[in-house]
Amino acid sequence: MLVLGIETSCDETAAAVVADDFELRSNVIASQAELHRRFGGVVPELASRKHIERLLPVIDEALEQAGVGLERIEGLAVTCGPGLVGALTVGVAAAKAVALARELPFVGVNHLEGHIYAAFLAEPDIAFPVLALIVSGAHADLVVMRDHGRYEILGRGRDDAAGEAFDKVARAMGLGYPGGPELDRLGREGRPGAIPLPLPMADESLDFSFSGVKTAALRALRGHEGDPAFLRDLAASLQRVVVEVLVRKTMRAVEVARPATVIVAGGVAANSRLRSEMAEACRRSGIRLVIPPPVLCTDNAAMIAAAGGRRLASGERSPLNLSVQSDLPLA
Ligand code: KG4
Ligand code: ZN
Repeated sequence: MLVLGIETSCDETAAAVVADDFELRSNVIASQAELHRRFGGVVPELASRKHIERLLPVIDEALEQAGVGLERIEGLAVTCGPGLVGALTVGVAAAKAVALARELPFVGVNHLEGHIYAAFLAEPDIAFPVLALIVSGAHADLVVMRDHGRYEILGRGRDDAAGEAFDKVARAMGLGYPGGPELDRLGREGRPGAIPLPLPMADESLDFSFSGVKTAALRALRGHEGDPAFLRDLAASLQRVVVEVLVRKTMRAVEVARPATVIVAGGVAANSRLRSEMAEACRRSGIRLVIPPPVLCTDNAAMIAAAGGRRLASGERSPLNLSVQSDLPLA
């Protein structure tokens, strides 16, 4: 089955074509980062308008890169939450219109489930049970997946997500928006132990909290804004403590859930320090780790087509009056 995926939950307008067995045919992403940069974050109203402008050309491009016309598409998958309501509505309306006009099956997909399925595009034969760490601009969750589509939440973010903390500190450092990738690059030149920062909620709980370490990093920054060596050290030190807690809690969850595979997904899974530290921890524990390539970690529609394609293949359909939900839960 050839599935067209559509993703417009935040500030990436994306469409992709995925075939059965998680085979990626095309993956087109039009980022709006440039538009939102001068505001230091995503402006929801602008995001919706830009999605309206760009979505149809992006879909055309995805079909063209896959080398197929719309008549070859056999199903539609679209993100219906969580995310910005206006932005989600643009994608869902487009998917419904195509489904109705072409009489195609259609399914709404949870964005977080999409992030997990990016791992299946990288590695189709993942063994269950899976423990997934989802780390993005809005989420920090530890999820057990005993089979396709079945989720139990082991831990969740209580306040700022890791990506949000990175973005807020990076913004104060003058690194622009979104700051995570630039913080990653800068941190590689700094000393991870140079600036003392508290380990964010390193207790026994499997929940995450990154607002305290964000505040500590912002306080440490005061008076050093123009000092390049300090900025490099702060970037390295902040990533050291955030990554240490992400890895520690994931390994603690491994003890609890005894998974066959660990997946790390979401935009922050593109972080080089998280990738290498998690690889090292899983190697030491002898557990299999799958982290999608960076382009499939940050928001994209291939992951939505992958998750939705599996749901469609198992007979699931969404009604044409499907609504979007900004806080749609995974489980
Ligand atoms: O999953 P995503 O694209 O959007 C959401 O669903 O939130 O994640 C975006 C987040 C942003 O906070 C961004 O700064 C962060 O992922 N991010 C990174 C890196 N690449 C993206 N954070 C650290 N290092 C990176 N290389
Ligand atoms: Zn995302």
